Amino acid sequence: MSQSLATVAYLGAAILFILSLGGLSNPETSRRGNLFGMLGMGLAIVATVFGPRVTADGVAWIVAALVIGGGIGLYAAKTVKMTQMPELVALMHSLVGLAACLVGFASYVDTSIQLAGAEKAIHEVEIYVGILIGAVTFSGSLIAFGKLNGKIGGKPLLLPARHWMNLVALLAVIYFGYTFMQAPSIEAGMPALIIMTVIALLFGVHMVMAIGGADMPVVVSMLNSYSGWAAAATGFMLGNDLLIVTGALVGSSGAILSYIMCQAMNRNFLSVIAGGFGSGAPKKKSADDAAAEPQGEVTPVSAVETADMLRDAKSVIIIPGYGMAVAQAQHTVNDIVKTLRDKGVNVRFAIHPVAGRMPGHMNVLLAEAKVPYDIVMEMDEINDDFAETDVAIVIGANDIVNPAAQDDPDSPIAGMPVLEVWKAKQSIVMKRSMASGYAGVDNPLFYKDNNRMLFGDAKKMLDEVLTALRG
Ligand code: TAP
Repeated sequence: MSQSLATVAYLGAAILFILSLGGLSNPETSRRGNLFGMLGMGLAIVATVFGPRVTADGVAWIVAALVIGGGIGLYAAKTVKMTQMPELVALMHSLVGLAACLVGFASYVDTSIQLAGAEKAIHEVEIYVGILIGAVTFSGSLIAFGKLNGKIGGKPLLLPARHWMNLVALLAVIYFGYTFMQAPSIEAGMPALIIMTVIALLFGVHMVMAIGGADMPVVVSMLNSYSGWAAAATGFMLGNDLLIVTGALVGSSGAILSYIMCQAMNRNFLSVIAGGFGSGAPKKKSADDAAAEPQGEVTPVSAVETADMLRDAKSVIIIPGYGMAVAQAQHTVNDIVKTLRDKGVNVRFAIHPVAGRMPGHMNVLLAEAKVPYDIVMEMDEINDDFAETDVAIVIGANDIVNPAAQDDPDSPIAGMPVLEVWKAKQSIVMKRSMASGYAGVDNPLFYKDNNRMLFGDAKKMLDEVLTALRG
C-alpha cells in the first residue's frame, strides 16, 4: 500500500472513530456507534500492517501476533460475565500502558533512529513522557483491576505524608528527566529512564490504592483517559498520526467522563486523584456516633405482598443497582414492567450515574432486556418525583440510595448525590442480606418506617413477584 493510500485510510479511520464516539453518546445510536468504531479499527489495522512502513518479513510477525492477541481477546469477550466487564476494561487499560512503556524503551535503544539537535530533544521528551504516562497507567490499572474484582480490598490505603511523597516523586521525575536529556549516550541515559519508570509505577500503585470504594468510578474513567494519552504518546514515538488522533480522542473523552463522574459524585477531581475520599477506614466510635448509626428493626416483606403493593400502585419507580447485574434479573424486570403497564400503572426507572460497576452499566442491561428508552430516567430528571410516587422498588442497589450521603457529614459517601427513595410513600429494597454495598457503609434506608425488605436473590424474588402479579 502506498503512503498516500495509507494516509487516506487513516483519515477515514479517524472520521469513523469520531462518528463512533458521537453514536455512543446515546443508547439509541450506540449500536451504530460501535459498528463505526469496529470499521475504523479494521481499516486502521489493514492500513498499518500493509502500509509502507512494514516490510514483507514484518507482516508475517504482525499477522501471527494479531492472530494470537485477537484469539485471546475473542475468548475473553465471549467468556466474560457482564459483572466482570469493568475489571476486564481495567486490564485492557493496563495493556495500553505497558505497550507505551515497551515502545518507549524500544525507541530509545533503536540505533536506526539517528536524530540531532532539536529533533533529538523532542524525540527524547516523547520517550520520557510516553513511558511516564504508560507506567502510571499500567500499574494503576492493575491495582484498579484488583480492587474491582475484590482481590484487593476497597478501603483506601492512606500512608502518612502521602501528599509529600507524591510531591517528592514529582520533583524526582523532573530531576531525572533533566539528567536523561543531558545524557551523552544511550547507556548514560538509561539509568535515569529506569529510575523514572520505577517511580511512575510506584505512583500508579499509590494513587489507586489511596482511592476509597465509592470513588472508584472516577478512577476507572481517569485511567481510561490516561490510556488514551499513553496511546497518543506511543503515536508520537512511532510517528504514527492515527495513533496520536485516536489516543487524543480516547484521552479527552475519558477526561470529560471523569469530570462528569466527579460532578455525579460531588467530588473535586484533584482531591480524588490525591486520594483519601470514600474512606471506609474504621474510626474510633464515640457514644454519639454509636447512637447515630442506623438502628431499629427492619420489616421484611414477601414476594406476594410486594406484588400486591405494585398492583395497587398508580406510580412506581424502579431503581436498579449492581445486584440486578449479579442476578441477571433485567429480563424479569422487563416482564414485570410490561405486566404493570398493561394494568395501567405508570412505571419508570431511575438511573444513578454510578449505579453498578461501570458508566452506563444499568442502561446497557435494560437495553439488552428491551426496556423502552423513554421510561428510563437519569437521576436529575426523576429525583424530585419520589414524593409523588406510590412505590419505589430498589433492585440490588445500596450506596446509590443511601440517605446517609445527605444526613451524615462524617459518612464516607457524604455529599454524593443519591436517589431519594425514602421520600416515596412506600419503598421496597430487594437484596439478599443486610450486607453493605461497594462503599462498605451502613444504610439507614433499610430501617425507615415506610421501607420494606424483600430478602433473596433478585432474579428468584422477581420471578415470584411476576408469578403473583400474573396469578
Ligand atoms: P452497591 O452499593 O454495590 O450495592 C449492591 C447491592 O446488591 C449489595 O448491597 C448486595 O447486597 C446486593 N446484591 C448483590 N447480589 C445480589 C443478588 N444476586 N440479588 C439481590 N441483591 C444482590 O451497588 P449500587 O447501589 O449499584 O452502587 C454502586 C457502587 O459501586 C457505588 O458505591 C459506586 O461508587 C461503586 N462503583 C461504581 C462504578 C461505576 S462506574 N458505576 C465503578 C466502580 C465502583 P446483598 O449482598 O445483601 O445481596
